[in-house]
Amino acid sequence: MIFKELGSTGERLSAVGIGTWKLGRNQEEETEAIREGIRLGINFIDTAEMYNTEELVARAIIGREGLFIATKVSPHHFRYDDVIKSCSSSLARLGVKSIDLYQLHWPNKQVPIAETMRAMERLVKDGKIRHIGVSNFSVEELKEAMGVLKANDIVSNQVEYSVFVRDPQDGLEAFCAREKISIIAYSPFSSGKMFGPARSESIEAMAAIGKKYGKAAAQVALNWLISKKGVIPIPKAANVPHMRENAESTGFRLSREDIAKIDELGTGGITSLSSRVKRMPKRATPFLSKLAEKREKLRSRHGI
Ligand SMILES: NC(=O)c1ccc[n+]([C@@H]2O[C@H](COP(=O)([O-])OP(=O)(O)OC[C@H]3O[C@@H](n4cnc5c(N)ncnc54)[C@H](OP(=O)(O)O)[C@@H]3O)[C@@H](O)[C@H]2O)c1
Repeated sequence: MIFKELGSTGERLSAVGIGTWKLGRNQEEETEAIREGIRLGINFIDTAEMYNTEELVARAIIGREGLFIATKVSPHHFRYDDVIKSCSSSLARLGVKSIDLYQLHWPNKQVPIAETMRAMERLVKDGKIRHIGVSNFSVEELKEAMGVLKANDIVSNQVEYSVFVRDPQDGLEAFCAREKISIIAYSPFSSGKMFGPARSESIEAMAAIGKKYGKAAAQVALNWLISKKGVIPIPKAANVPHMRENAESTGFRLSREDIAKIDELGTGGITSLSSRVKRMPKRATPFLSKLAEKREKLRSRHGI
């Protein structure tokens, strides 16, 4: 395993992490997959209060040390008191004393960022969280958030980044590199769409490149991200073979020519999650937060 520094914190994160969105269908197998990733040297696991996988992560990491656990507060909890409350629920679900990286899941224009960050800084002061991160923030949103922080830095921005979705290359990646903000690359396989028939030509091209290194197309796609300074992909894998393949995507270095060949592959008609969310009609937003609230009520009623 190779490691990368998180921002300029001195924290060493495995160059590939573990994503946990949509886990939960086959918990035994998924827990085993996470443990296999840890056995192979991954120390970085990402979850969110929205995913309903914090308890699964807690079970998978029992007895494991030296891990770096990241979770996220949902945008409808960005009021000061709600951030504090969400954090304490996540701490309880994760079974940890402190969250290593606490991230704002999506920007929320309804709540002043200064209020949300005041709560995040309180959590750092109280030792409930160790580092502050954001997710799905543009350069402008990052600047605004950086501007209201008093004693802490934003150490990471979690955004969609893959061979097929390269939105961060529009200035965000360069800005983050200058400001020493790590990019945590989510959906590095475009949520699995990368392996669909519409992308078979690109997959074949990456498989051909991989042959030279004894690696699969998925490992080439991850290594393309890992080869970028400050970028850490967090693939989700629900089984041991996928996890093993992902964990073993770091022990080789793609040549400059091969990186250039991958750069030339098309986006395969895939659009980013954030651009799809932006296109959602405004009236859908209250509906979605109501849905999230309903789910939380159900969770707390059933003690899960
Ligand atoms: N911050 C945000 O707003 C945000 C948004 C989306 C995602 N995320 C984070 O990013 C993580 C990853 O993104 P994602 O869940 O969208 O999907 P992803 O990692 O891009 O893709 C997951 C899909 O790829 C398959 N897969 C995994 N490893 C494979 C391999 N080696 N070979 C072939 N197929 C493989 C998985 O199959 P199996 O499941 O069968 O293993 C699954 O179908 C999430 O879990 C979450 O932590 C964050």
